[in-house]
Amino acid sequence: MTFPSRRLRRLRRTPALRRLVAETNVTPSDLIAPLFVREDATEPQPIVSLPGIVQHTQESLRKEVNELASLGISGVILFGLPARKDPLGSEAWNPDGVVQVALRNLRDDHGSQMAIIADLCLDEYTDHGHCGVVTDAGDVDNDATLELYQRVALAQAEAGADMVGPSGMMDGQVGAIRQVLDRNGHENLPIMAYSAKYASAEYGPFRDAVDVTITGGGDRKGYQQDPSNAREAMAEIELDIAEGADIIMVKPALAYLDVIAAARARFDLPLAAYHVSGEYAMLKAAAANGWIDGAATAVEHLTAIKRAGADLTLTYLAREFAETLQ
Ligand code: PBG
Repeated sequence: MTFPSRRLRRLRRTPALRRLVAETNVTPSDLIAPLFVREDATEPQPIVSLPGIVQHTQESLRKEVNELASLGISGVILFGLPARKDPLGSEAWNPDGVVQVALRNLRDDHGSQMAIIADLCLDEYTDHGHCGVVTDAGDVDNDATLELYQRVALAQAEAGADMVGPSGMMDGQVGAIRQVLDRNGHENLPIMAYSAKYASAEYGPFRDAVDVTITGGGDRKGYQQDPSNAREAMAEIELDIAEGADIIMVKPALAYLDVIAAARARFDLPLAAYHVSGEYAMLKAAAANGWIDGAATAVEHLTAIKRAGADLTLTYLAREFAETLQ
């Protein structure tokens, strides 16, 4: 006589049995690697708070993406560091700007074999570090910013992006971008919307990676979401879908698994999660101290994000995760 619960235990006995009944398996094809490319770099520059991640030169970026492709990673998302910043962030729509050059190179290298995604925002390009036009009073002017996002979207589309990812959390950004793409022959270019993006403390290392400091110790709480709110995320996602989003996103990931699960239950579009810089940095710092097993924790975290309902995950762990599978 055994307890009925023994049924569950029997299937945990060997690695092969566990594999057979695993409900969730992360594969490299679920992952998108965020990559940084720096216009004035002559050598790849390490990012202290993101161990193992660098600011690439155009050449080192091409090499990295070749390697990611051979590891089975499906996509990359590009962030640019321009040599020159100004109040509007005009380098973001320069046809020869750093991301546009990278897009053309990667398009040449990979054809349709890799999804080359462009993050679409202005904070890396503005001298004040905000995601849009700042008024004299110091507020971000939502509607004036939309027109600039349209210019960026067109420049990225024309440089060969497979998809654009607006991350600025301006109201109406998805609709404005969809409209300008459609009017200029890019009806088939999808938009991955950073729909439920929280004003998180976990973006710190990213701001080191892109050399962004918000003027006057400012923050983004006026346009990014309050971590207290989950229902509000559903409203944000619904609006983005109505405006034409093709993929919706929740960001960050692990502290917002409830939001991911709720979005999965409610919406049928592909759902992305962004495992952000701070999540990666915490994992790496603890692992470097020998306090956790970094590789095992990485698998556990990525599995949890998928189990909660994300179809794809943007993560700085993409490369090492794919390498450990080999
Ligand atoms: C904005 C943007 C940010 C991140 C991605 N896009 C930073 C912010 O909103 O302040 C953060 C990503 C990360 O932390 O890994 N362009």
